[in-house]
Amino acid sequence: MIKISSKKIKIVQLFFVLPRRTGVKRKDNLNWRKKFFEAKRNEVFITSVNDTVCFLIGVGKKEQAKDFVYQQAANKFSCDFKDKIIPTGTEVLGNLNDNQFSQFALGLFLGTYKYPFEKAHPFWKRGFSIFTKSVSEKQSKAISARIEAFCNGQFAGMEWLNKPANFKTVSLLSKYLKSECKKLNIGYKSFNKAESIRKGLGAFVAVNQGSSQEAAFTILEYNGGGPKGKTIGWVGKCVLFDTGGISIKPSENMHYMKSDMGGAAAVIGALFAIAELKMPVNIVAVLPITDNAVSEKAYLPSDVITAYNGKTIEVLNTDAEGRMTLADGLSYLSKNYKTDVLIDIATLTGSAVRMFGYSCGAYFSNNEELKEQLEQSAGITHQRIWNLPLWDDWQDEIKSDVADYRNISSKPFGDCIVAAKFLEQFIEGHACWAHLDIAGVAFGNVNYAKEKAATGYGIQMLIDFVEKFMI
Ligand code: BES
Ligand code: MN
Ligand code: ZN
Repeated sequence: MIKISSKKIKIVQLFFVLPRRTGVKRKDNLNWRKKFFEAKRNEVFITSVNDTVCFLIGVGKKEQAKDFVYQQAANKFSCDFKDKIIPTGTEVLGNLNDNQFSQFALGLFLGTYKYPFEKAHPFWKRGFSIFTKSVSEKQSKAISARIEAFCNGQFAGMEWLNKPANFKTVSLLSKYLKSECKKLNIGYKSFNKAESIRKGLGAFVAVNQGSSQEAAFTILEYNGGGPKGKTIGWVGKCVLFDTGGISIKPSENMHYMKSDMGGAAAVIGALFAIAELKMPVNIVAVLPITDNAVSEKAYLPSDVITAYNGKTIEVLNTDAEGRMTLADGLSYLSKNYKTDVLIDIATLTGSAVRMFGYSCGAYFSNNEELKEQLEQSAGITHQRIWNLPLWDDWQDEIKSDVADYRNISSKPFGDCIVAAKFLEQFIEGHACWAHLDIAGVAFGNVNYAKEKAATGYGIQMLIDFVEKFMI
């Protein structure tokens, strides 16, 4: 429970948010402060004024401190000090405008995340409240509700991404989605293996074929916009564990492949926050849920498979499974729903990691306006993306002798582009589509864990996009 209030309460703790002032002589008499605290970005200094504990939190040079910097600084601060800060009786000071304050407060609450969330979250059980003069009492209610929804969404996505493989089964995730959707008034529908076969979801079923777990081709529908509202289609890669299948991965870093549902985590997080806030938009989210396992039943390199749209795919590498599940996800969505915008998001290729490392996702799109809009949302939330081409030059790479397409290229380069080109064959002519390859950014170094863990990447970007361009 989060409460932001502008009504004065008993203050026992102050968060002082300060920009770095260079060349300006301080008028205050806290000259000692300059020596110990320079207000560099993410710098923290603790002092006390009478009986009040005072945390000075730096955001760096004012001109460079974009709004997301306030979120980042607050997130790091509350992560580092979450065992020390008191959840009630806190005042936030500093000359913050509405946006800076909202971002700061969001970071403050997000930074309290610990994994596992259910076991280690005193703030959320007891409630976390802050007082500020930066916003009016009326605004503060709306901001509290917004931050709570953002946290609920982002924590849900992160929590599932962080779960160990044996706690991340198809049935556990399905059960969770079903019950959350009921609470949030989101339609839930799921096809198991037999139903997926009947529907003709051949590419998805092929990946699930070697698994001991049931398949769950899941469709979540949120109708907040009514018949006049815009509709956005999302497909999130939801491979719960990617062993590579028969084209098995080396064992050294294989445990990271529990993160192969990073696209789905982004979709779940954004969808839940949007539904909790009852935003006036329609969303159809497709999550083809399965793992990619090794067994005597697993699909084999050389298999020829018929996808949902009737096209055939020659499987040359069973580790290129994400594009198989997304192919059916995309064409199922396109054929059965009318959407204004279609976006898929996936931890799809090692190639995207090699290209952009951990700081940026690769994206592809067939629509110039959509490109601009996505870049704007990615920039503002600092969940950055960089555009790569979909030129026809790559079409040759997915030609097969025995099928319409092959699932990998024969050349050892540009796989994130080849994968995008492959997916383009399954959008059924949708004129406004984008594919986000977030393999490098969904799971990585974070402030709340020693090991690599969920970053929450994509959630705020997707929400921002919906708020700005779909409403
Ligand atoms: N899930 C992986 C991609 C990935 C790699 C995600 C690193 C996160 C971090 C994907 O299914 C995969 O295995 N891709 C292969 C494709 C190859 C066989 C053509 C890859 O990128 O190596
Ligand atoms: Mn794979
Ligand atoms: Zn994968």
